[in-house]
Amino acid sequence: MSGREKPRTGDADLDALHAEEVFSDTDTRIAVAGHPIHAMLVAFPIALTVCTFGADLFYWWTGDPFWARVALWAIGAGFLMGLLAGLTGTVELLLVPGIRSRPPSWTHFVIAMSLLSMLGANFGLRLGGYEAAVLPFGILLSALCVGFTGLTGWHGGKLVFDYRLGTGGTAS
Ligand code: HEM
Repeated sequence: MSGREKPRTGDADLDALHAEEVFSDTDTRIAVAGHPIHAMLVAFPIALTVCTFGADLFYWWTGDPFWARVALWAIGAGFLMGLLAGLTGTVELLLVPGIRSRPPSWTHFVIAMSLLSMLGANFGLRLGGYEAAVLPFGILLSALCVGFTGLTGWHGGKLVFDYRLGTGGTAS
């Protein structure tokens, strides 16, 4: 190969990921009848984070303490379900050689851990007084959480649909 040629991915002589049989094992381990539990759980933090932002907006609009209480419960449940989703994702990441050996899995881990810290901060902020916490910091934090939830979910989708991780398909 001349110095100008690019290595071909998928070539076992050049790409360690393809040279070792064990790295093509990307099948889910934390699953019910082959369906990854992580994929089932992530819907909860995603939906609850959006609900928190919605409730914050309604509180800002109406001033009704009911919405501040809704936001407190939504972010509390979203944080808890996010921790559970993160736990199943992390076990999958550490247990499956084909998942832990691919850098995008670790990128997803870092983005997701950042999101979980923001969800925790958003919940913690409200524990000291859920109504006073909404404006301005609660709602700003909720907007940031919604953005990061989108980023985390989109990147998780890339792991499944682009890299075929956790699917039992052939990883790229
Ligand atoms: C904190 C550690 C996390 C790790 C290590 C992790 C790891 C993974 C892995 C390995 C996959 C591939 C599918 C599978 O094997 O189940 C995945 C998919 C995904 N993750 Fe995570 N994840 C984490 C947290 C999160 C969180 C907090 C969210 C969302 C709020 C999230 C959203 C997604 C989504 C949407 C998918 C695609 C699911 C599908 O369409 O089937 N992840 N994640």
